[in-house]
Amino acid sequence: MNKAAVYEECLQEIESVLEGEADQIARMSTVCAVLKRRLPWISWVGFYRSVSPGMLVVGPYQGDIGCLRIPHDRGVCGAAARSGESQIVPDVHAFPGHIACDSLARSEIVVPVRDSLGAVRAVLDLDSHLPAAFDSVDREFLERLVARLVEPAS
Ligand code: SME
Repeated sequence: MNKAAVYEECLQEIESVLEGEADQIARMSTVCAVLKRRLPWISWVGFYRSVSPGMLVVGPYQGDIGCLRIPHDRGVCGAAARSGESQIVPDVHAFPGHIACDSLARSEIVVPVRDSLGAVRAVLDLDSHLPAAFDSVDREFLERLVARLVEPAS
């Protein structure tokens, strides 16, 4: 099965499990559980929430223990929160300011999560032990996913 097909199945499963559930923690936790089980190329998936100006705090995640707080001026997560743009990092060692929660991590993608007014409320972070594990297919799917996460499909 190719990557896009795997992601389509993820999206269907997530929407089916979350039908009628509006609680954001329940929604974020389910996204992490489904992605971690279905994407064999990832080692960690989780949300960092923008809880105060300039500061991200870890939310629901699956994988080894993640760092708890990330200021907006640090790391790949901070870059996504600050810029409002998804970040694809093929080699984390080449990214200035990358925060290594897992010494085996080689590549990473971070997608901003916006509220209905367009403000960045959180970021969704996926790590891989493989180099260059993430591409535009991951970005497109994950951006679709987080858009639906904020505005549940009716
Ligand atoms: N690598 C991230 C930090 C979070 S961990 O990957 C779970 C970063 O540089 O922002």
